[in-house]
Amino acid sequence: MLRFALGTTFVFLMAATAAAETGAEAWLRYSALSPQAAKTYQHLPRKLVRLGDSAVLKTAQQELVLGAAQILGETLRVSENSSPEDAIILGTLPRIRALAPALHPPQNLEPDGYWLKTAKIHGSECLVIGASTDRGVIYGVFALLGKIARGEAIADIDEVQQPFAPIRWVNQSDNLDGRIERGYGGPSIFFANGNVRSDLTRASAYARLLASVGINGCTINNVNAAPGILEDSFIAQVSHIADVFRPWGVQLSLSVDLSSPKVIGGLDTFDPLDPRVAEWWRKKVDEIYRHVPDFGGFVVKADSEGRLGPSTYGRTAADAANVIARALKPHGGVVFYRAFVYNHHLDWRDLKNDRAKAAYDNFHPLDGAFDDNVIVQIKNGPIDFQVREPASPLFAGLRRTNESIELQITQEYTGQQRHLCFLVPMWKEVLDFDMRVDSNSTPVKDIVAGRVFHRPVGGFVGVANVGMDANWLGSPLSMANLYGFGRLAWDPNLSAEKIIDDWTRLTFGADPLALKTITSLQLNSWHVYESYTGPLGAGTLTNIVGNHYDPGPESSEENGWGQWHRADHQGIGMDRTIATGTGYIGQYPPGVQELYESPANCPDNLLLFFHHVPYTYTLHSGKTVIQHVYDSHYDGADRVRDFIAQWKMLEGHVDDDRYRDILARLQYQAGEAIVWRDAICNWIYRLSGIPDQKARVPTASGLQGNR
Ligand code: GCU
Repeated sequence: MLRFALGTTFVFLMAATAAAETGAEAWLRYSALSPQAAKTYQHLPRKLVRLGDSAVLKTAQQELVLGAAQILGETLRVSENSSPEDAIILGTLPRIRALAPALHPPQNLEPDGYWLKTAKIHGSECLVIGASTDRGVIYGVFALLGKIARGEAIADIDEVQQPFAPIRWVNQSDNLDGRIERGYGGPSIFFANGNVRSDLTRASAYARLLASVGINGCTINNVNAAPGILEDSFIAQVSHIADVFRPWGVQLSLSVDLSSPKVIGGLDTFDPLDPRVAEWWRKKVDEIYRHVPDFGGFVVKADSEGRLGPSTYGRTAADAANVIARALKPHGGVVFYRAFVYNHHLDWRDLKNDRAKAAYDNFHPLDGAFDDNVIVQIKNGPIDFQVREPASPLFAGLRRTNESIELQITQEYTGQQRHLCFLVPMWKEVLDFDMRVDSNSTPVKDIVAGRVFHRPVGGFVGVANVGMDANWLGSPLSMANLYGFGRLAWDPNLSAEKIIDDWTRLTFGADPLALKTITSLQLNSWHVYESYTGPLGAGTLTNIVGNHYDPGPESSEENGWGQWHRADHQGIGMDRTIATGTGYIGQYPPGVQELYESPANCPDNLLLFFHHVPYTYTLHSGKTVIQHVYDSHYDGADRVRDFIAQWKMLEGHVDDDRYRDILARLQYQAGEAIVWRDAICNWIYRLSGIPDQKARVPTASGLQGNR
């Protein structure tokens, strides 16, 4: 009784918090259905039977109790026994079969897959949430609650859901001092002042959010890793984070610095082929598993952006990855070795130099040299999370190596959560992109999941960077990106429309105008952001040596970072052709080469990524490049202004807190879009000397006239 009395108080408090709409509950608000909508679920059994005692199953049970109380106002009765009575039954398939031998899912369940099924068991009406693993049961519970929260029918449910790939991880860029590199939602939820936080409530709540969309791993620290993370005393602290992840089925992993054996291990080397180094990693890993028995593994950034790596000793990335992988192997851990390896001191005067070629050049020759518990983690595009990039050719370039795709949830180059930019449509373009390997249909999603080259492991990694801000990412609408990443990692075949519809219903409710407006804003937001920051594939024309936020097209040039757009007085764009350019296009399979090599064939939205063309070049759309740049920027800024008008229609349709917050953000974005528009249009006019046909961009004489 006491338990339920406490439960009621808890539910009441939760409801009060939710009323403030801080965003802390994200898409797990579980707001109460109307009495009429709740009636649809009146036949939902009120008894809950949990078959098993694991921490994960207990969490699944608690979540179901919480959700039913908040959404339906129903108190589920938890029972250890399965006496003949209508019940919701949670458990893995062997336990369910022991209870109901005739019950079989329509297909075999993969690890983490689940089955929702209404069935008669011993004459009682039951709702079974079955899975092959305990973690799958949690996923099934969240799926069921999501359906109820959205008012979907479950009366005769018989649904199997399987994850597309085993790897569905997020990376955090948290530093041990509590700051987050490229984080826009407040300080770290894991670290403060060089230690693990003593209060890990938020870390636990984060694991719950991750589990609710099927994410099963989290790397808690920055890829620019502090070696100190591997100090013995720190590992003991880190284990507290693993403890709060575990009940949600989220595995913890760490980013590590390759020079650790030397920097903190006291060796005079970190040469991966030195037996003392191998021994150091082995002991270190054993130590970690003593503290964290379900540890996931390591993420490695090496020989990149000033970080030390195997090149110090003339060794390869495979040598470095394998020495660590061998230490992890007996424990079932994996190494994510990042393909983001490039020279940031390239000579910008040499038109044949091309940073985009680096990942393929560095990793393709090593195909087959990595152990089978190494996963090469490849950013979606060949540069660095620009507003538009083609899919990295490396996806097709590794046939005997496990891969994961790295997507960026935190909006480093896409408005830093201050601009609305729903990234699922962008990610889908990359995941659906057909690499035409051996002239077959081979979309990137199939390659990274290991389906094309029959790899044992692979999948999806998202750089999330949530922080201590109540709403996690700093902006309520940005949470659609975290949600969308999880949904796509589970099923990349879902449409962006379905994902955003689900998210909006769970986050804002089912008010038809709110639903229509928010989904439309989100679905349009990436193209709009692209239109005023970096159209035609030129990259995000931002300040690349500074904050990656303000307009700064000149900062791309005349330095070694290689994010060049090559704009000069005559034209713009990087010539990456095989015939006359850097040869980058030659890294793709022939079918893709054909798509990009000729400007006549190349899609307009990537033209300047692949080709250097005069400003007067005519696009497929019939416009010249220069006029497109002008029009696109003016149109983009206008469309953001229109976002405000659309949002204002929602007053009274969404809660006041979020109404006002989002309105202020859109108003700010509209101002920023004008700043971008004017900066880029003035810059390109100064370079080209070609005036805007519509005379919106001040000309040299116009400017003089103004003086
Ligand atoms: C970008 C980003 C860095 C990050 C790096 C990486 O360059 O600006 O903050 O560390 O990518 O992904 O390694």
